Formats: sequence, structure tokens, C-alpha cells
Amino acid sequence: MRTHYCGEIDASLEGQEIEICGWVHRRRDHGGVIFVDLRDREGLVQVVFDPDRPEMFSTAEHIRSEWVLRVKGRVRARPEGTLNPEMRTGEIELLGLALEVLNRADTPPIHLDDKDLSEELRLRYRYIDLRRPVMQQRIMMRAQVTRSLRRFLDDHGFLDIETPMLTKATPEGARDYLVPSRTHAGRFFALPQSPQLFKQLLMMSGMDRYYQIARCFRDEDLRADRQPEFTQLDIETSFMSDARLIALMESMIRELFKTVLDVDLPDPFPRMGWHEAMQRFGSDRPDLRVPLELVDVGDLMSHVDFKVFAGPANDPRGRVAALRVPNGGKLSRKEIDEYTKFVGIYGARGLAYIKANDVAAGRDGLQSPILKFLPDEAVDAILSRTQAQSGDLIFFGADKAQVVNEALGALRVKLGEDIGLMEGDWKPLWVVDFPMFEWDDAKQRWNALHHPFTAPKPEHVSLLESDPGNCHSVAYDMVLNGTELGGGSTRIHQEAVQEQVFELLGIGEQEARDKFGFLLDALKYGCPPHGGIAFGLDRLVMLMAGARTIRDVMAFPKTQTAACPLTEAPSEVSAEQLRELHIRVRQPQKEEGGDTAC
Ligand code: AMO
Ligand code: AMP
Repeated sequence: MRTHYCGEIDASLEGQEIEICGWVHRRRDHGGVIFVDLRDREGLVQVVFDPDRPEMFSTAEHIRSEWVLRVKGRVRARPEGTLNPEMRTGEIELLGLALEVLNRADTPPIHLDDKDLSEELRLRYRYIDLRRPVMQQRIMMRAQVTRSLRRFLDDHGFLDIETPMLTKATPEGARDYLVPSRTHAGRFFALPQSPQLFKQLLMMSGMDRYYQIARCFRDEDLRADRQPEFTQLDIETSFMSDARLIALMESMIRELFKTVLDVDLPDPFPRMGWHEAMQRFGSDRPDLRVPLELVDVGDLMSHVDFKVFAGPANDPRGRVAALRVPNGGKLSRKEIDEYTKFVGIYGARGLAYIKANDVAAGRDGLQSPILKFLPDEAVDAILSRTQAQSGDLIFFGADKAQVVNEALGALRVKLGEDIGLMEGDWKPLWVVDFPMFEWDDAKQRWNALHHPFTAPKPEHVSLLESDPGNCHSVAYDMVLNGTELGGGSTRIHQEAVQEQVFELLGIGEQEARDKFGFLLDALKYGCPPHGGIAFGLDRLVMLMAGARTIRDVMAFPKTQTAACPLTEAPSEVSAEQLRELHIRVRQPQKEEGGDTAC
């Protein structure tokens, strides 16, 4: 129906007659001449309708926003003074020669140029929202990203293999989405949280190098970078060292950034041990664009009278850390109060600070609500350890290490954004050398930091028995600008080690058999050493497209409460369907009102 896309018409076509199709973005009536910006996937072009062709002109007079048109026209240069350098097609316009209305449109419930649309409305009319040029570009970039990743993996001998959606619970640890079975009364499938176990089985099947752009389902609390249904680029290899896999994945991401954004990422990416990341940045996914670091001061505080600091300083699970903000002295009382509120979200009970107005003037040059609690030596030691300069501000966190890390870790990034401290555009990083386990206080047992199939470092295997807390795994996370892009590991390929890890995680023999019996069996029949990684594709595209949330790079995402305003899913189902699925339906009772499934 057309010879060109609207957005690709330029001066090289001047004088030619062409045909285009698209949506009316805007119509302006300039006393006798009608201008229409016609829009398609590739962009906008200005079409001019002259009154010399009365029939076409009168049709043009009636067209409205979002009508669908087909236009035949001649490309001509725009008159001097009307060039629009903002538009790709800004040097030319199309003089309308024939106009066909392919479809009319009711007044759209959302206006494409409106910057303050509610997300609920955008998602309800997603097919209109997706017409917005910014959304079209994001979705097209996403396709370009998957194309580039597939090409790289295909070229490196990876096989694209699908794994089941209707399956059994997987080990990532979120709540499952369950699907009742009609043919097996009282039994349920779980939608996969990832293809983890199947990709390991594929290695045991001899497939050697696997990848899949896989949909994953996790019923967890949602945030800007979390959706209940999301996509992973999932990868697994056999007989490949972790060093080789890390290098290969790095070159894949480097090639992707070069192809799609023309950005050169560092070669190699820096690496940092998990422990160092937590100490310096309070986070296992540090944003290295922010040049602020946490500094331990617990040893300086163990004997002070100030209980808020001395308590955590003397608690083996506590931490007292300082965060120096260069030139932070100009922060007002009100701003500091707001940051105090902010760290409260992470459980911090306060946010002590010292303003170093003039470091040469001793105590008199400092301003702080906690100065009165601290002896001179402690204050001097803090200033020297944090390398405070006149005009700086030092924040403090004192609590359980986890609270301090989360609070000051988040504060560091917020300050970086608020006071414009960000350095550089892209700061990738590998976080390596993770502990195998973290202690769960509430449950009084170990939890896997990655997942239960992650192998311990070969030299740490004996610690599984003697000192699990100090046992490290062969796991690695790729982090970009403070977002965890992907995580992977070498897997356990010996049955005995797998059983030992299950035991440490409090997964008894029977439970292990019930949940993962097929994997334990497969380990007996010739399992190659193997390992792999999964990248959050939505997060990757979000960062590359400069979007705020992963919802903005998904065609049909769910809301923060895991619903779809467009289709109104999840929705009720008939009593008959429930009965077929062996889900008992209680008769409506007056006080409860309505059918209830139980
Ligand atoms: P993990 O659970 O770390 O590892 O997930 C891998 C990557 O997937 C992304 N991700 C998410 N993206 C959007 N919404 C979510 N709810 C969500 N949850 C995770 C993140 C994360 O880094 N099977 C292992 C991988 C492996 O060991 O090979 C796994 O799933 O970017
Ligand atoms: P208070 O003695 O409770 O008034 O606290 C004195 C200062 O210490 C205030 O600036 C508080 O914000 C701060 N503060 C209190 N508890 C903590 C904590 N756990 N970590 C860091 N600062 C704190």
C-alpha cells in the first residue's frame, strides 16, 4: 500500500511521487492550506493539502487525530524559514496528490504528546500508548538488542532450545505462579521462575552450549525493575571455565553496546569481590558512577559514650560506617532531615552527621549534633580516615551491618543523583567471589545467596562441613550502573556435593527427592562440569533505552499490583471451569456474598 515509511523520506527523494500510510499525528488548518503530520513506526512527515484539489481538500478538512490515511504525494523542499532541524524529515514536505481515509478514529482517550499520563491509563490503552514515538523507539531497540544477542550466540555455537512453561517449582526462591491440572486432580504445575534446572539437564544431555530468550514468572513484590513476568537471556555451557564464560559474556555485551548504541564499554570489565563491594559501597550491585564510598569507623567508636555508635561497634554483626560528601557542607538542615527520612525506609534509626566547615580549626570548625558525645581523638581520627576537607559533610550509619549497608548504600546513590556527582555514562562491573550462604536469623538456618545448584570454590569444599559461613561460591553477577543485569555460576556436578548443600539449606532428603529428584538422578548418569548465566533482558533494554522502569520497554507489562488494565487479567472464571480443575466452589453465602473458590 505504500512505497516508503513516513519517517524515512528525505531530500534525496525531492521531486518524486511516493505513497505513504500512517496515523494523523496533528492537523493544522492554516487558512486555506491544511498541514497534516503523518506518523508511522519510522517517524513523522509533514503533508500539505492545497485547495487546488477541492475533493481531496474537503476530505482533509474533516480528518482528525489518529485517523489512518494513505497519501500519494510529491516530495518537495520546505520553503525557507520553515525547516525543522528537530525532525529527520524536517527539510522536506509532501504535497498531497491523492488522499484515502483507511479508517477513522474516535477521539483517543490519551493524547500522544501528553507527558503526564497516568500509567494506569497508558496500560489500559497500551495500543495507543505504544504509538508514541518514544515507545516505538524503545520497542524497536528491544528487537535490535535481541537480534544482536542472538547473532552473537548463534555465531559462537550456542543452540536456541525451548524449555517447558508448565513445569515444577524451580529454586529461585520467589513465590510460584501455579496452574491447576485438569487431568490430575489436586495437582498443580508451576510456571518457571527460570529455566535453571532444564538448562542443566540440557548440559547432561550433551547439548554443550544452550541459550534461550525465556519468559520467567515470579510472584514477588514489584518495583521499577521487577515484573511478575519478565524475560531472561538464559545461557548454559559445558566444559567451559568460569573465566572463559565471563570473558565471552563480556564480549557479547560489549558487542551489543557497540552495535546498538555505538558505545565502547571497557575491556575487560572491572571485577570486585562481593565483600569489597559491601564494604565500600554497601551493595552487591554498586553504581560506580557515584564517587562516594563507605568507610568503616567502628574501631574508633567502640569506647565512646555514645551508645548509638558504641553498640553496633561492639556487636559482631553491627557496623558503623561514614560516608563523606565532598562540598556537602552546603546541604541545609531541611535537606539533611529529608535524607534522614530517606534512610528510614531502609530501617535506619537516624542519620548522624558532621559538617566539616573548617578542618584546621579543630572542634570549633565542626558542626554536628553528635559532637558532644565524641572525644577529640575520635573526631580527629574520623576526619583523617575519611580524608575530610573543609566544606565537606560526613554522614554516619550505625546499626546491624545489613541496615547500615542498605541505608548508606542507597543514600550514596541518591546523593550522587541529587547533587550531580555522577561520573561517566556506563560503568559495568563483575561482582565475584560470593559467599555460598547467608544466615537467616528468622528461620535460624542458611540460605543460598545464588541458588542451591551453585558450586563452592573447589578449595572451599571442605568448609561446607567445617565453616559454611566462610565458604565461597563460583558465582558472578554482571552489574551496570547500579543494576544487577545478570547472575550466573559454575554448577555443582557431583551428587554428593549437591546433597551436602541441600542438607545445609535445611532441604531434607525426602524434600530434595520430591522437589529435585529428577536432577539428583541425572547427576548419576554422566554429568559434565557446567555453568551458565542469565541476564534480565528487560533491565538491559531499560538501561540502554534510558527508560525509568522495565515497564517502559515491555509491550504489555503488568501494573505494580501484577494486573493488566488492558485485558483486565487476572479475571474471574466460571464455576464450571473451577469444577473441571477440581477446585471446590463454595455456594454463595449471604454474609460473604458471591462465589468463593477455596
Ligand atoms: P536470577 O534470579 O539472578 O538468576 O535472575 C537473573 C536475572 O534476571 C533478572 N530478574 C528480573 N528482571 C525483571 N523482573 C524480575 N522479577 C526479575 N528477577 C530477576 C535480573 C537477574 O540478574 N537461574 C538463575 C541464573 C543462572 O544461575 O544461570 C537466575 O534466574 O537481571
Ligand atoms: P539522638 O541522640 O537519638 O538524638 O541522635 C543523635 C544523632 O544521631 C541524630 O543526628 C540522629 O539522626 C543520629 N542517629 C541516631 N541513631 C542513629 C543510627 N542508628 N545511625 C546513625 N545515626 C543515628
